[in-house]
Amino acid sequence: VTDYYTIRWNDGVVRMIDQRLLPQEEIYRDYYTHQEVAQAIHTMVIRGAPAIGAAAGFGMALMAMNSQAQSIEEMVSDLHQAATVLKAARPTAVNLTWALERIISVVNENLHENLPDLINIVITTAQHIADEDVIVNQMIGQVGNVLVPDGANIIHHCNTGALATVGYGTALGVIRCAHESGKQVHVYVDETRPRLQGARLTSWELLKLGVPHTVIVDGASGHIMRTKKIDLCLVGCDRIAANGDVANKIGTYNLAIAANFHHVPFYSVGPTSTLDLSTSYGDEIPIEERDAGEVACIGEQKIIPNQAKVYNPAFDITPAKLITGIITEKGIAKPPYLKSLRKITQVYGEENE
Ligand code: MRU
Repeated sequence: VTDYYTIRWNDGVVRMIDQRLLPQEEIYRDYYTHQEVAQAIHTMVIRGAPAIGAAAGFGMALMAMNSQAQSIEEMVSDLHQAATVLKAARPTAVNLTWALERIISVVNENLHENLPDLINIVITTAQHIADEDVIVNQMIGQVGNVLVPDGANIIHHCNTGALATVGYGTALGVIRCAHESGKQVHVYVDETRPRLQGARLTSWELLKLGVPHTVIVDGASGHIMRTKKIDLCLVGCDRIAANGDVANKIGTYNLAIAANFHHVPFYSVGPTSTLDLSTSYGDEIPIEERDAGEVACIGEQKIIPNQAKVYNPAFDITPAKLITGIITEKGIAKPPYLKSLRKITQVYGEENE
């Protein structure tokens, strides 16, 4: 239990903490339409793969509630329209599409219901998506905890805590579980340029959890691996391709290369809702490019020359061969991922092939 929350359905209103203002201000905002939720996802009021999946689900619930549809057919058409708007909010994290598809498929199974019941079914499904996320993250924490030695020094990239999910966290959930199980752990927190999710959010969450940590610039991780004893790297994931390539926050690939060079185990952590078996390779994953201002400015201050060009990919692909294992709520997938990831969707337990 934390004294903050990422997102909640509150009597037909979606309430989210505005993550753009953390750690300086803890402000919650209310959203009344699916368009407003899409905008909140796009502008990163809410961010992190599982969290935007849950937000998309609640966006659909808002459409179901607010729709003027007089028939099931009109409702289905409105829901499809809302799904299109929500899907366009951000392209890389597959959890967004996953949540939308889950709601559409539940709707398709219940076309025989009357309109008020169908509306309730959409709202309940959105709430299930959110509730399940917390349980799944706690399971991920326990699965991953076996890999964390007592006294571990861990490098973590981006933000994967309760704020990036509905609660508990993925990679940060593993760290939290290790800490709560009595292990001494210390985390080197990559600041995660340009949006500084590590410096602003991960550090804030680790402080609240009482987990010892040190914030570093992204470029310091190689030096730290060379000069200190690092036991493992833990990162999140926004989409896992069938072959084990993983899309995650920009800078993850660099960290994986450094970890490989220094023989530091490198784990990607996420729920199976981040697994996209319909995507064969990492290069098929759409990589979001964000505004140049995120790189060109720090706060309101422009830091690069006016004429300088900026390229700002928000995610990168880490090839499967750099990943020691993929930690999910259903176990740890190990290479070869083509086989272990397929299997993990069906079985529980560790894959060691
Ligand atoms: O651009 P963001 O902040 O939405 O980036 C996403 C991340 O925080 C991580 O890459 C991610 O979603 C890992 S899974 C919690």
